[in-house]
Amino acid sequence: MPDQDQGWPLAEPYKTKMIEWIDLLPPAAREDAIRRAGYNPFKLLAQEVYIDLLTDSGTSAMSQEQWGALMRGDESYAGSISFQDLQASVRDVLGFPLVLPTHQGRAAEHVLFRALVKEGDLVPNNLHFDTTKAHVLNRGAEPVDLVVSEGEDPEGDFPFKGNVDLSRLETLLRDAGARVPLVMVTVTSNQNGGQPVSLENLRGVRALATRYQKPLFLDAARFAENAYLIQQREAGQASRSVAEIAREMMSLADGCTMSAKKDPMVNIGGFVALRSEDLYRSVRDFGILYEGYATYGGLAGRDLAALAQGLRESVMQRHLAYRTAQVAELHSALRAMGVPVMSPVGGHGVYIDAGRMLPHIPQGSFPGWALSIELYRERGIRGVEIGTVMAGRNQTTGDHDYPALDLVRLAIPRRVYSQAHLSQVAEACRRILARRDSIPGYRFTFEPPTLRHFAAEFEPL
Ligand code: F0G
Repeated sequence: MPDQDQGWPLAEPYKTKMIEWIDLLPPAAREDAIRRAGYNPFKLLAQEVYIDLLTDSGTSAMSQEQWGALMRGDESYAGSISFQDLQASVRDVLGFPLVLPTHQGRAAEHVLFRALVKEGDLVPNNLHFDTTKAHVLNRGAEPVDLVVSEGEDPEGDFPFKGNVDLSRLETLLRDAGARVPLVMVTVTSNQNGGQPVSLENLRGVRALATRYQKPLFLDAARFAENAYLIQQREAGQASRSVAEIAREMMSLADGCTMSAKKDPMVNIGGFVALRSEDLYRSVRDFGILYEGYATYGGLAGRDLAALAQGLRESVMQRHLAYRTAQVAELHSALRAMGVPVMSPVGGHGVYIDAGRMLPHIPQGSFPGWALSIELYRERGIRGVEIGTVMAGRNQTTGDHDYPALDLVRLAIPRRVYSQAHLSQVAEACRRILARRDSIPGYRFTFEPPTLRHFAAEFEPL
């Protein structure tokens, strides 16, 4: 089944029913706006941004079916019909019998880790997302990243750069198994470009987890994109449906944490899904303490209803075929014009290697940050630096904790921007590339002690 007709331009598989105007401020007004924001795109006002690619989280457009479900949301405090609908959806799409709603993904991590992780533990993952890492640390435990070495190479075309290095996982479980409360795998792996994990690799992780008697959890925020990339890239998977592949991925795990703001396309929401009644009971007690009663978990009934429907839509073939093709087209357009991008393309965005795009800016003058400012100055586009500024300072030396790469992520919200919008993004990158030698680095004028990228202020050098 070809996902897109060969030879025809890519087109959205839906039409627009409700619109929101967006404005491109004139160049001088953009200049003013970014200066007022202390050269920090996080401090721009939404109406000052033309194309907002800061994140694909909570920014997707809901379908008419989701809006319809939202109107039927049942706001009963306990035992809500919308909760039952979510339960049915989680059973159908993911195959887990038990679900505990939470207000978003990090809350799911919080309540799960409260129940399972204790001081001195080691938590393996392919690559921890920031909040997952923070919640492991918050329990006094240590996050251990075990992604395959290909996953650290921004260029090679290895198709599953999210894979776990099974021999390193085995060594950890063999040598320090007593300190490992659970194994986690992030699908897709956000930290290195939205890279998928293969089914074969997940089966390998499952086998090790079983051998060492550890529960396996998926950080499932982008599980549907992962399943689609398995269908497209893994030998023997092309004839299976995405829904079937997604269920097999989940069948290998004991549970998952979900940020439903990504693939399930809601503006707020998350959950922990589980198989074990015992574990459910202990996670539920923390859920009630921190989130809300077990059948709403910090969400309105209407949020649960929209989520139940969004989860069903997340594994639709035509949705994923278009979504991933849209991201891939931006990736190839940038690559063709010589913009260094992380390859192969992942599921939810394009990651530009700003260190290589702006080689005249030393890492200490923040090339990724500089590129994110130029995107705004050029065309009102907001991306996010994933580089030296975000990495923060080394606790012992006090110097910047230099990451291997200074990246800018252009995350594409689902069902929001058209191909024409993304052509504007590509054209902006082309113009920036043409004048790159004149682009300045930045220095702090205000540097907060933690999570500095959110509140810092800068000046151009
Ligand atoms: N796991 C992954 C892989 C994520 O990408 C995120 C959020 C979370 C967990 C936490 O979920 O935001 O609902 O609490 N990622 C967002 C992003 C913020 O922009 O990539 P949350």
